[in-house]
Amino acid sequence: MALELLSSYNTWPELLAEGYESGRSATSNLKFERTPRNIIVCGLGGSGVVGDFLRVLSFIYNFKVPVHVIKDYNLPAWVEDSLIAAVSYSGETLETLKCFKEAVERGAQTAAVTSGGRLESEALKIGAPVVKVKPGLLPRVALPSMLGGLIGLTDSIGASSVEHEKILEAYHELRNVTVDDAEPYANLASGSDITIIGACGPYSIVAERWRQELSENSKILAKTESYPESAHNDIVAWQAKRNIKIGFIAVKGGDRVCEAIMNYVTEIYKRHGETLELKLGQPSLANILKGALIAGYASTIAATIKGVDPATTPLITGYKKMLSENLKL
Ligand code: PA5
Repeated sequence: MALELLSSYNTWPELLAEGYESGRSATSNLKFERTPRNIIVCGLGGSGVVGDFLRVLSFIYNFKVPVHVIKDYNLPAWVEDSLIAAVSYSGETLETLKCFKEAVERGAQTAAVTSGGRLESEALKIGAPVVKVKPGLLPRVALPSMLGGLIGLTDSIGASSVEHEKILEAYHELRNVTVDDAEPYANLASGSDITIIGACGPYSIVAERWRQELSENSKILAKTESYPESAHNDIVAWQAKRNIKIGFIAVKGGDRVCEAIMNYVTEIYKRHGETLELKLGQPSLANILKGALIAGYASTIAATIKGVDPATTPLITGYKKMLSENLKL
C-alpha cells in the first residue's frame, strides 16, 4: 500500500495543473454581478486543509477579498455576498454537506470541489459550478487537485490572484522533490515518541499539514507550534525536561523576522531532542506545496518503518458512522 501511495504522491505536479484547469472551466455558468465580498471554504480533514492553504495564499498573493475556513456543520450569520465553496473529496462528508445545504437555503452563491458523491449531485441540482477532481485517490493525497481546482475557480472570478504562472512554478518545483528528500524526516518521526513541527508566519500551514499527514498516514503522535503565537505560550513547555524521545522539525524560510524567530526556537528545540530543519525559502505556492509533498513522502515512509498501513483510517470511518446517526441533513 505504501508503494501505491508514494506513486500517487509522485503525481502531484500533474494533479495541480489538471485541478487548476478544471477549476477555471467550472466557472462558465457562474453568475456573479460583482466579485464576492469574501470566500468561505467549508470542508474537513484532507479536504478542509485546502481552505487553509487558500487562506495563506490570500496573504502571500494579496487577494482582494478575505478567505474564511469553516470546519464545522454550521455557517456563520454573515454569509451574504460570500462565495461558499464546499470542498469534499468523497462528496459524502456530512459536516460539509450540511454547510452546503445551509448556504443554498440562505441564498448564498455556492460552488463544489469534489470527485462525486452527494455533494456533486446536490450542486448539479441547483446549477452551482462543480470542480470535478480525479477520483480513486485518498482525500489527503488529492490536495493539489482540490487546491488547484479551488484556485482556478476563484482566480477566474477575480476573487483570488494566484494565476497560471505560479501554478507553473509550483508544477516545476514539485517535479524536483524526491522521496530521498523525505528520508531523514521519516527516520526522525518514526524513532520519536512525539514529533513537534514548528513554523513561522505563512509556513504554519506546512507545519499543520505535517501533523495531519503524520497522524493519518503514519499513526504518529505530532504537535505543531506556530510562531510568533507559540512564543507566547507553547514555548514555555520547553522550560521543563521530559523523559520521552522528542523529534523536532523546524520549518525555515520567510522574511528576516521569521528567520530570526525560527533560529531562536531551533536552539531551544536542540536542548530537548533531535532537530531537523526543512528549508523552504520565500513563501510561495511552490514552496508551501513542496513542504507538503515532503510531508506526504515522509509520513508514508514512516508508516512503513513502523509497520502500519498508511491508507487505512478506521477511527475516521467509525466517527463518520457515529455522526450519520446524530447529524441529519
Ligand atoms: O484524508 C482523509 O482521508 C480525511 O482527512 C478526509 O479528508 C476527511 O475525513 C474528510 O473526507 P472528505 O475529504 O471526503 O470530505
